[in-house]
Amino acid sequence: MTSLDRPADWWKSAVVYQIYPRSFMDSNGDGVGDIPGITSRLDYLRRLGIDVLWLSPVYASPMDDNGYDISDYQDVDPLFGTLADLDALIAGCHERGMKVVMDLVVNHTSDEHPWFVESRDPGSPKRNWYWWRPPREGHAGGADGAEPTNWESAFSGSAWAYDERSGEYYLHLFSRKQPDLNWENPEVRAAIHEMMRWWVARGVDGFRMDVINLISKQPDLPDGRVPEGRTYAPAFDSVANGPRLHEFLQEMHREVGLSEHGLLTVGEMPGSTVELARDVTDPARNELNMVFTFEHVALDQDPGGSKWELADLPLPVLKANLDTWQRGLADVGWNSLYWDNHDQPRAVSRFGDDSPPHRVHSAKTLGTVLHLHKGTPYVYQGEELGMTNTYFTDIAQYRDIEAINHHSDAVSLGLAVEVVLEALSVKGRDNARTPMQWDDSPHAGFSDAEPWLPANPNKSEINAAAAVADPDSVFHHYRRLIELRHLHPAVAEGRFRLLLPDDLQIWTFTRTLDEEALLVLANCSSEPATVDPGDVPGLNGATILLGTHEGRDGLDLAPWESRVYVLAD
Ligand code: GLC
Repeated sequence: MTSLDRPADWWKSAVVYQIYPRSFMDSNGDGVGDIPGITSRLDYLRRLGIDVLWLSPVYASPMDDNGYDISDYQDVDPLFGTLADLDALIAGCHERGMKVVMDLVVNHTSDEHPWFVESRDPGSPKRNWYWWRPPREGHAGGADGAEPTNWESAFSGSAWAYDERSGEYYLHLFSRKQPDLNWENPEVRAAIHEMMRWWVARGVDGFRMDVINLISKQPDLPDGRVPEGRTYAPAFDSVANGPRLHEFLQEMHREVGLSEHGLLTVGEMPGSTVELARDVTDPARNELNMVFTFEHVALDQDPGGSKWELADLPLPVLKANLDTWQRGLADVGWNSLYWDNHDQPRAVSRFGDDSPPHRVHSAKTLGTVLHLHKGTPYVYQGEELGMTNTYFTDIAQYRDIEAINHHSDAVSLGLAVEVVLEALSVKGRDNARTPMQWDDSPHAGFSDAEPWLPANPNKSEINAAAAVADPDSVFHHYRRLIELRHLHPAVAEGRFRLLLPDDLQIWTFTRTLDEEALLVLANCSSEPATVDPGDVPGLNGATILLGTHEGRDGLDLAPWESRVYVLAD
């Protein structure tokens, strides 16, 4: 197995590219993306200049949640290929100077994992590997309200499934086919560490840890507050960030040798605060390199409501949130930076303007703003093309378990179908999961067969072949952004200072390191904007490193125009 040098803190100047294997490239004509498909596109990724490829799960799985329900951590699902294909992909990345980060889904397994199959037997030594609980006192198992707590699963309905055989319930914070592992049990933790060491020995360069702040649960599993009109309480508020989280992460760090091996580690942490993230990413504590916060992707929903309750997002609110994280992790810890991923809508449709006159400029400007923050940027497949949401109008078009369950649940609770469909088309995860748009052929160059989810019809205009051929495309803008990070230490490490926090259109900030000072000026609106000369450092003698509009300078900005300056001394 080839491997790469991993100098200390190499991930601080790296850019990560996320691949959702199901939707990236199909090599065998079954309409589903696979590992040899990814390998066939490595030169494209090399050209973009990314340093790391993060693979969403490719492990053996019944695919209830597209692979986030794992039935064997040490094998590849035949849908995606074989272990030998994965070895070849890793070797192909390493040959090109790129690293590979695997998705680590260890809060839960599939209910078809042998551990859980065994655990179903009340007398088995694996019984305590999962969260089995008797019905609520005074209730008959299986009856309404008999669940051990009132928690709702992230995919609707109770977070507890009743098991006739034992008369007990098991906890599943996600689908009923994703039972939660009991991390309180040291045997579980040891088995996970061993599996991780096996992957490290196989040559992987890091782990993206799925919902890792759920592994330690709040003691005594407390009931939550049920919102009006609902049956269950959102579970994460009651269960996440348990008292043993740091202990479990430190133990993993030690047992797997995360630092010794120089691995990249990023923990997905819904509900994490800046304070928690600072502790988790403080290098002195030996936990993780960085976390994925959810705060900025929860700003366009009603406060206290669910992701489906849509709200407007004024620019100052978004700026303030990123600023809080920049300041919070300025001296201790490290940020991850992302606009979208396989669980979120497309960045340009959500934070930009995907209408034809503004799509390209807004995709570029969103990229500029994000990549010029301090932290490690993540690019989700197709973001570098400015791919857009799908705008499905019928529930039959969706494949995602979250969307399908939410639709049936919300409609049964009396919500108007149009309202539910509108929220799904804005926030649904399938927006991010339509096939990668490689070219303008019938299935976007993704597959010769009908894809599992149809390609967005805008593939005829938005596709990699056209973008690579056009020096002015979103693709080449992202390529230049990635290059900037590699060439300018101030982009990776410079101090961040937000200017004009209250401006409704302009996002402007400085980054400074030693002698170098950068200024980012970005108009994040579809109207022209002007910056007051007194509000930003003078541009005399400044040079433009990267801009969205050729040949322009000064304080007037076209809709979605942005520029990165190096300021004169
Ligand atoms: C994470 C994943 C998401 C998955 C869930 C359960 O949030 O990103 O896709 O459904 O965990 O594993």
